[in-house]
Amino acid sequence: MGANSYTRMLLRIIILIGLIAYKECASNYTFSPDFLFGTATSAYQVEGAWNESGKGENIWDHMTHNTPEFIYDESNGDIMCDSYHKYEDDFALLNDLGVNFYRFSVSWSRIYPNGHPYNPNAAGIAYYNNLIDGLLAQNIIPMLTMYHWDLPQRLQELGGWTNPLIVQLFTEYARTLLENYSDRIKYWITINEPYQICNEAYGENGYAPALGMSGRADYLCGHNVLKAHAAVYHLFNNTYRTRNNATMGITLSSSWYEPGSSEEEEAAERTRQFKLGVYANPVFSENGDYPQVMKDYVGNQSAIQGFSRSRLPQFTSDEIEYIKGTSDFFGLNHYSTRLVRNSPPINNTVLFENDMQTELWIDPSWPMDVVRRDAIIPWGFRKLLAYIKNTYNNPIIYVTENGCADSGELEDYVRVSYYGSYLEALLEAINEDNVNVQGYAAWTLMDNFEWRYGLIYRYGIHSINFTDPDLRRTPKLSATFYKNVIANRAVGDYPSLS
Ligand SMILES: *[C@@H]1O[C@H](CO)[C@@H](O)[C@H](O)[C@H]1NC(C)=O
Ligand SMILES: *[C@@H]1O[C@H](CO)[C@@H](O)[C@H](O)[C@H]1NC(C)=O
Ligand SMILES: *[C@@H]1O[C@H](CO)[C@@H](O)[C@H](O)[C@H]1NC(C)=O
Ligand SMILES: *[C@@H]1O[C@H](CO)[C@@H](O)[C@H](O)[C@H]1NC(C)=O
Ligand SMILES: *[C@@H]1O[C@H](CO)[C@@H](O)[C@H](O)[C@H]1NC(C)=O
Ligand SMILES: *[C@@H]1O[C@H](CO)[C@@H](O)[C@H](O)[C@H]1NC(C)=O
Ligand SMILES: *[C@@H]1O[C@H](CO)[C@@H](O)[C@H](O)[C@H]1NC(C)=O
Ligand SMILES: *[C@@H]1O[C@H](CO)[C@@H](O)[C@H](O)[C@H]1NC(C)=O
Repeated sequence: MGANSYTRMLLRIIILIGLIAYKECASNYTFSPDFLFGTATSAYQVEGAWNESGKGENIWDHMTHNTPEFIYDESNGDIMCDSYHKYEDDFALLNDLGVNFYRFSVSWSRIYPNGHPYNPNAAGIAYYNNLIDGLLAQNIIPMLTMYHWDLPQRLQELGGWTNPLIVQLFTEYARTLLENYSDRIKYWITINEPYQICNEAYGENGYAPALGMSGRADYLCGHNVLKAHAAVYHLFNNTYRTRNNATMGITLSSSWYEPGSSEEEEAAERTRQFKLGVYANPVFSENGDYPQVMKDYVGNQSAIQGFSRSRLPQFTSDEIEYIKGTSDFFGLNHYSTRLVRNSPPINNTVLFENDMQTELWIDPSWPMDVVRRDAIIPWGFRKLLAYIKNTYNNPIIYVTENGCADSGELEDYVRVSYYGSYLEALLEAINEDNVNVQGYAAWTLMDNFEWRYGLIYRYGIHSINFTDPDLRRTPKLSATFYKNVIANRAVGDYPSLS
């Protein structure tokens, strides 16, 4: 053994000892053999082929082509990971990870180019047939999301989710997916993250179509999203469920909202209701409908502002019954935690924040990821899971997204640490709080189009060389880590951040 390789070996041993020494003190809990592990992606973020084989324009095509500066690095999803052509490369990654399932979404404008439900595009139908059949051939369960933010542009021009006609249009699109795929799909998700769809894209300017009508368009959008979800669930429940003994749910996103001090518990709870309860309460609670605290706060602010009725629309009692109970499981996307304090409005401006009357922040001493500076707080994940169990009558939960951003390095120690600590928190939630979590998807399979942040924030456990015409995929450290978690059904060692 030469002096050089001797030094290298010594160095490796020192690094290894360092990693073990700094490893979080792990519990010895394990995941049961039937716990489902997967990874998730969405159509616009990975598919590319934006105008191929009859696909129509969607709101992200429209935004990235007409207002490229909306995306901080001016990238777009025209090609991106090119999963429309390279889905077999994706299968290879999934196979290597050993995942049980793969969560993907269908592009509405690939099925119905203008959104209107006539003459489905045969090439679009065929693409998802190939995707589903390819996954099943490798023993990977397909989990299909019907809507992950890529509305056909022509429907946006009709008002998008604020136009009540969207309920029927979405139901007809969903019927086509159910007709074509329900013989093989066991896990359906209707809509991904109503909060981001409505509050951050109609209320704020965070995502396409960036309407910025806070306190107005967000509530109108949410009302129709809930009705559209319920309509599709009933269609499924009445006609398609038995084709493959399948289940269907909705995916909601939430941070954990922790009181900033012991006086702020009520403010924290109000924030949970405004951000999660607004969509969860109508579907998952015993009595259905919007949370009472929201009706009170939005109603009172509306009155003070001179509106003749609340800006929060009302459900009829029939609608409350129609929406209640329309999810077989609670799909949860979770990333981070915020502190909360009361923040009364300083004027009568119509704003979601003036209705909610709280403000959120991050404790600067908390561990954070390096690019987005989002807090890495595994105990917040555990508290959120227990909260959902206790507030919504112990539903089956699938964590449909969880992950953290960096700038794309292959040796992604922060992401490994994030996954290690969050999966430990998940095991504690299952074993100590008896939360009924039955599956978990890492966001995301590979670096992809992170919406407004383009390729600046990367969430992949695989890297892609985007300048290589072959778009070669390479596993990061986190892929190896996750692969071991899946194989061992245990979290194993991971570097500590604190
Ligand atoms: C886990 O198991 C190992 C050996 O089986 C034991 O030494 C360790 O104390 C256990 N850790 C916890 C947190 O129970
Ligand atoms: C698709 O868009 C590309 C630009 O992204 C353009 O070069 C090409 O001509 C378009 N193809 C069709 C069929 O419209
Ligand atoms: C796919 O959906 C379309 C529209 O609902 C329908 O016409 C067609 O028959 C379906 N194909 C299959 C194989 O069910
Ligand atoms: C249908 O699926 C449920 C779990 O979702 C399972 O408990 C049940 O046994 C299945 N029924 C049949 C007939 O396969
Ligand atoms: C709303 O207004 C009613 C009537 O003025 C008042 O009793 C109630 O306390 C107010 N609620 C909130 C949350 O401000
Ligand atoms: C789903 O269908 C079953 C059987 O027909 C019915 O008992 C149940 O009430 C339906 N669920 C909802 C939420 O309507
Ligand atoms: C109301 O307050 C907000 C800050 O919350 C401020 O941006 C806005 O300009 C104020 N509007 C008026 C009309 O004073
Ligand atoms: C990415 O691909 C390009 C083109 O094939 C190549 O020149 C470059 O070295 C690759 N980068 C990495 C990090 O592999």
